[in-house]
Amino acid sequence: MQQKIFIKTFGCQMNEYDSNRIYDAVREIGFEKTVKYEEANCYLLNTCHIRDKAKEKVYHEIGRVKKIFRLKTKPLVIIAGCVAQAEQEEMLKREPYIDLILGPQAYHKINDTILKYQNEKRKNEETEFDAITKFEYLSKIKNQTTTISSFLTIQEGCDKFCHFCVVPYTRGPEYSRPFNQIIDEARQLVNHGSKEIILLGQNVNAYNFESFRLSDLILELEKLSGIERIRYTTSHPNDMTEDLIDVYKNSKKLMPLVHLPVQSGSDKVLNLMNRKHSIKNYLKIFYKLKQINPNIEFSSDFIIAYPGEEQIDFEKTIKLIDEVKFINSFSFIFSPRPGTVAADLPLIDKKKSIERLEIVQQKLFNNQININKKIEDTTINVLVENRTDDKSKLFARSEYMTSVLFSGNDDLIGKIVKVKIKNSNRNTLFGEAIEQSNQKVA
Ligand code: SAM
Ligand code: SF4
Ligand code: F3S
Repeated sequence: MQQKIFIKTFGCQMNEYDSNRIYDAVREIGFEKTVKYEEANCYLLNTCHIRDKAKEKVYHEIGRVKKIFRLKTKPLVIIAGCVAQAEQEEMLKREPYIDLILGPQAYHKINDTILKYQNEKRKNEETEFDAITKFEYLSKIKNQTTTISSFLTIQEGCDKFCHFCVVPYTRGPEYSRPFNQIIDEARQLVNHGSKEIILLGQNVNAYNFESFRLSDLILELEKLSGIERIRYTTSHPNDMTEDLIDVYKNSKKLMPLVHLPVQSGSDKVLNLMNRKHSIKNYLKIFYKLKQINPNIEFSSDFIIAYPGEEQIDFEKTIKLIDEVKFINSFSFIFSPRPGTVAADLPLIDKKKSIERLEIVQQKLFNNQININKKIEDTTINVLVENRTDDKSKLFARSEYMTSVLFSGNDDLIGKIVKVKIKNSNRNTLFGEAIEQSNQKVA
């Protein structure tokens, strides 16, 4: 009988990449992907531990699976990702429905672990950090992702230990994949039709393999003729080196959106967070890039109400948002994470925290609305990725990652198209196709 695997993914793009690669791996032992829970005989949950209720979310999801399979044969249940790494065998004890635990640096063991389980029916947990073997193993298995825009992990882990963050504990120490391994994988993606490559890493701009940096990778990828757009995420301000900034002078394919999380506008809070950079450093990078190309825009992550954030610190965050005019950002109230330095710090009053978050989000949302309004009645280049779920429109992205919807034929999928923007809301631009490679569209 054909074995079917259902993979559900929480968390960041690196988890999405991992889920795709897990699927590439289990195909080798006869699994086929399904998008229907009830068809699966293997259920894999790829988890995220970044904010509160992460664990509860996992157990809640398992509860759902249990219900679905109440009258059917129980599937093999695998918990992968950052909660698996953080909780390890505790999960097997708390929820007997779970069969296997697999940490993010142990995916090279997935097939052996599944086969062993099928033979011996013994629960197991694999959570060693072994990024080298993981990527060596995965590089021998073709990346079969067939999306127009594809993720490609080039770097894993983090040595920075910001006081609020679980990543150094769940993903382990910084590791950069070999340069040629990445280029080979990019070629596979292009051969499957990818037009945009999004280079990923928890600290992607810390990429450092032998003498190769992220800037070298971008310039090498740019030579692949099938690639139209290159992006990278997530960066740390301290790794925004001159060579990377210089790439913006010459690159034709690197998109003009820089996602550079700042977390807070106050040096005092940055210091408390152990971020190891100042607002002055951050703005220096911002203005350098703006000087190279005034069309470059920034997006960021913010942590609001970090322990010790006073009104004056919060106002500095607002001031920074006014100055940089971030095009798109993520903002969350600080969530204490077990095992981190900030885990037990006294929290800011909940009501005040929510008020501050609302003020920040209102500002960020207004920026987004205003930026989108300004684009109305102009013509922009978009990369068409697919159709909307209801099939009525083409779904594309602007150079700044904003969703763009317009009418057109399927043969525009995978192409860069000029679209005249007619209307907008905070998250989406609506337009009409003007032309694609001199060819009129329906
Ligand atoms: N490496 C990136 C950097 O240095 O900015 C961030 C990676 S982290 C996976 C993504 C985002 O999650 C962070 O930028 C931060 O805003 C948010 N985050 C991490 N820990 C958090 C916490 N304990 N509470 C709230 N947000 C958190
Ligand atoms: Fe987490 Fe990023 Fe800080 Fe590393 S640099 S600890 S991934 S927030
Ligand atoms: Fe979450 Fe792990 Fe990514 S904690 S954000 S899945 S690195």
